[in-house]
Amino acid sequence: MPTLLRVFRRSLSYPWRASGSLLMAIACTLLVLVLPGVTQRFIDVVIGQRRADLLIPTAVIGISAILARQILFTLRTFFNNALEQRLIHDLRVQLYDKLQRLPVKWFDSNSSGEIMSRVADDVPSMDRVIVEGIDQALTAVLQFTVVVGYMLHQSWQLTLVTLAPIPFIALITAWYSKRSEPLWQESSEATSALNSLLHDNLSGIRQIKAYTVEPEALDRFEAASRKVGEKLMRVMKGQAIIWPGVSFLAESGIILMVGCGAWWTLHDKITPGTPIAFLVAWGFLFDPISRINPLSQLFLRGIVSAKRVFTILDTPDESNLTEGLRPDSFSGRVRFDDVSFSYSDGPTLRQVSLEAMPGQTIALVGPTGASKSTVLNLLTRFYEANSGSILLDDHPIGSLSKEWLRDNTGYVTQESFLFNTTLRHNLLLAGRNASDQEIWIALEAANAASFVRELPEGLDTIAGERGVRFSGGEKQRLSIARALLKNPPLLLLDEATSALDNNTERLVQEALDNLRADRTSFVIAHRLSTVRKADHIYVLEHGHVTEHGTHQELLAQGGLYSKLCEASLRE
Ligand SMILES: Nc1ncnc2c1ncn2[C@@H]1O[C@H](COP(=O)(O)OP(=O)(O)O)[C@@H](O)[C@H]1O
Ligand SMILES: [Mg+2]
Repeated sequence: MPTLLRVFRRSLSYPWRASGSLLMAIACTLLVLVLPGVTQRFIDVVIGQRRADLLIPTAVIGISAILARQILFTLRTFFNNALEQRLIHDLRVQLYDKLQRLPVKWFDSNSSGEIMSRVADDVPSMDRVIVEGIDQALTAVLQFTVVVGYMLHQSWQLTLVTLAPIPFIALITAWYSKRSEPLWQESSEATSALNSLLHDNLSGIRQIKAYTVEPEALDRFEAASRKVGEKLMRVMKGQAIIWPGVSFLAESGIILMVGCGAWWTLHDKITPGTPIAFLVAWGFLFDPISRINPLSQLFLRGIVSAKRVFTILDTPDESNLTEGLRPDSFSGRVRFDDVSFSYSDGPTLRQVSLEAMPGQTIALVGPTGASKSTVLNLLTRFYEANSGSILLDDHPIGSLSKEWLRDNTGYVTQESFLFNTTLRHNLLLAGRNASDQEIWIALEAANAASFVRELPEGLDTIAGERGVRFSGGEKQRLSIARALLKNPPLLLLDEATSALDNNTERLVQEALDNLRADRTSFVIAHRLSTVRKADHIYVLEHGHVTEHGTHQELLAQGGLYSKLCEASLRE
């Protein structure tokens, strides 16, 4: 099974720890044999041959073996947990690293809740397979083999009788494992769906409360939660029938074994110590078999998890993230030639051509859904155009390293996002080494200094999840300060002022004028005041450029732009 093999290959990164675990497990297993051996000696030698002098030495051997086994057991637990935590840590970090390198498009079709359940649940459940595989499964096989070997050595006839129920047990277990894998898969999908719903509802808790849809949200959650329970119940139901059946077979085997042992002892074929030793060994023989149930569950669940983790790890990285051209200078000239693009089915951008000369401000206007933001998404290469060409200076955008491209672009998005950490940290995303003094200069230029100064903790204020502790206008100005600190040659502003009242807008406008100075900017805006200052204006409708020109030219044309201006003046 390739998935399982791939899971176990991970243990190769810790060869010493893994072999240490294995060696200790083997030693523990071998020590198992001492107990039936000692019992048999008590009966056949100490009692049978009346050797009272051997009583104490035999007991000492037995107790020492038990002690050694338990000490090894402690060490083994310690070792295995250390190995497990390392494996989990490595995989978790590897998975996160991968997530950051996946294209933005991937996140459109994978919900955050689901991704979180991959990292939180699937990673440990996959790595448990390695640790339990070494510690439990391998030793189970080994213990079984060793005990059978010992039994064969004592009496092959009695061994055959003892092993008689095992083929039936193996058949039942194999059949059941095969049947329950899809059940596990379904139950783990139901768990992810539940997590995903929880995550979504918590993110939207304000909407849920504002629209008083708590009962509906609760119903959906209840349904998802019930589904998890039902799926698990289906798995458990099977187990409730199978495992007692297996135990019945195994335990009736004891009677068969002791009965035959008694018969052969009566006929002097074996010593009386032999069936007693078999009785002691029986526990060690069926101990591995009783582990099949929990182990098979753990393996089935782990393999389902591993498949899901590997699906993510095998998804190709975002292309050109680090490789690609890194021109020494970038003047800020940008050109779209007949660019078309679609997110999934229908076309979103259709043959868009536009041009920005260095230092120019280009405005994109048009109704919502006209694909204005999409143009900026292509410029940051969050998405790749399907046809046509986008040139930066004279370099096709596809030939550039994305890191270089994004380092040279400042992007103030429609919804400003702050991370739940200090303001300083949020601002330093852009200027990684900026001093506090530089931060304050940027805040000043972004008209954000005054309200930050009033915060009791200043730059050390925690922003709250998604920046809930700040108003839309404040977050917007903080985002502008962030872009100022970055000081990029190309600036993309997506409705940076739309969420603001007139007074704040003026403040932000000033901030933006400071930001736009000496660099190429693409500005998406509704407000006439922003747009009319642009060097060139492109009007987008349904993903198509329908008019373009300066403010005066477009007014003279009397098209959509002039209508939008009229509407804007009436506001
Ligand atoms: N990630 C996405 N996946 C699929 N469709 C999208 C995505 N983002 C935007 N769209 C669709 O593309 C069209 C243009 O969206 P957008 O560029 O955001 O418009 P605008 O910014 O002009 O309001 C819309 O119909 C929108 O539904
Ligand atoms: Mg938009």
